Amino acid sequence: MIKFAVMGDMHYVQPRCHQNTLNGKPSGITELADTTRNYWMTRNTLPDVISRIKALNPDFVIQTGDLVQGHCDSQEQSSLEMREAQELISKIGSKIYYAMGTHDGVPGAKNSAHLYDLVYPAIGRALGYPVSNGYYKFLSGNSLFIVLDYTTYSRDLNQREFLLEALAEGKNHQHVFVFAHPPVVPVARPFFTDYKFASDVGELLGQYHADAYFCGHTHNQIASLHLFNDNWIPQLKSSVLGYPDIPPAEAGNIRVLLPDPAASEIGWAYMEDSAPGWWFVTVNGSYVQADWHVLHKGVMGALSWRSGEKPVFVKKPPAVRRFTTMPAAFDIKKIRLRAAGSGFIDSDNVQIFINDKPVGNLPYLEYFDCRQYLEIDTAFCSELSNVNTVKFTMPSVPCCIGGFVIEIQTDIGWLRSEPSAFYVNTSKWDQWNERTIKHVGKGEDIIANLIIS
Ligand SMILES: [Fe+2]
Repeated sequence: MIKFAVMGDMHYVQPRCHQNTLNGKPSGITELADTTRNYWMTRNTLPDVISRIKALNPDFVIQTGDLVQGHCDSQEQSSLEMREAQELISKIGSKIYYAMGTHDGVPGAKNSAHLYDLVYPAIGRALGYPVSNGYYKFLSGNSLFIVLDYTTYSRDLNQREFLLEALAEGKNHQHVFVFAHPPVVPVARPFFTDYKFASDVGELLGQYHADAYFCGHTHNQIASLHLFNDNWIPQLKSSVLGYPDIPPAEAGNIRVLLPDPAASEIGWAYMEDSAPGWWFVTVNGSYVQADWHVLHKGVMGALSWRSGEKPVFVKKPPAVRRFTTMPAAFDIKKIRLRAAGSGFIDSDNVQIFINDKPVGNLPYLEYFDCRQYLEIDTAFCSELSNVNTVKFTMPSVPCCIGGFVIEIQTDIGWLRSEPSAFYVNTSKWDQWNERTIKHVGKGEDIIANLIIS
């Protein structure tokens, strides 16, 4: 029997390494909020996660990237943060394998020397031989484990050859598990991965009928099956980031989910910031069971399969209750218009109208971040009804805007409208051919209906 754990994004933060960001010079628009939030989780969530995984006594752990927050002030600080993160995760007491995330450093990029000094040597110690890059394979029992480096995939032509050879070798083993940082199928964050990596790897996973693909990157907690080359491949995402005590938000209540229902099956899907979780997988002969653990809650979901068979969700978390009745005005604490997108950095010029009334300007939208919204005065509740319209004029900056959701906070939880589609005014993402994305022109007026009940 083999027992292994898979941990997604960790984003360990050592604040001494982020003085630029913490003192008003962040490198990106979400950097300060990300660093601050992830420092809270480093102190309050990670130690408990580490001790819970240690208690499960896995044979080994695979961490699927973004071990650290990274983007530090200097190379010295980048090395310090990486060293501390490795020391923390090593408290699990099992071998640790790493898949590369962009926050961990990229070969040739600024402040990435620690890849050679700390990360590749750590992978080498787990493998028992030195490595000089971030993709590799190893055997355990009857299973082959393949770890990919998406940060170098597009420019390192050897990696596709490596993957092909490894998957072909997998025919000699009962199970093949593949690991990398990003999803091959975006579920709730459009385009939030590398197209070449995703399309290549997805096709090959199906062609060689890999057992499962584990990843992180989006910080969502999502278990799904996807049909590639007539084979159902589980894509099992996780992140140990999150606030353990906030109720999880179902991704389908906040975003129109991207996969085609005819070629996918969603076991569960939660937006980031809640339900910090990890996978614990047991392999016994031809049988595999993958349990999704949530901090302080135990096993909340599971799927199992035998070699060559379609996996079955044998346990799913309970559905999150969705409120659909408009509350009385005095029960309303907050009203927000949630939005998401990529490339919208001009916050001054796009005015939003709900039911033809102006409610403010659209905020910056980048990375399809799940925390971007427009705060609306609670007095606006008298303007809302069961069917509402949100209207705006598409700006000229190339961008994707959408995922509008009216959210009303009461003492018993959030009441949400159904989410809107995403609208895009550029061809830069056309290769994805996402079925839920609507192409619109610059300067075009967009009206979306937001239905509450
Ligand atoms: Fe991440």
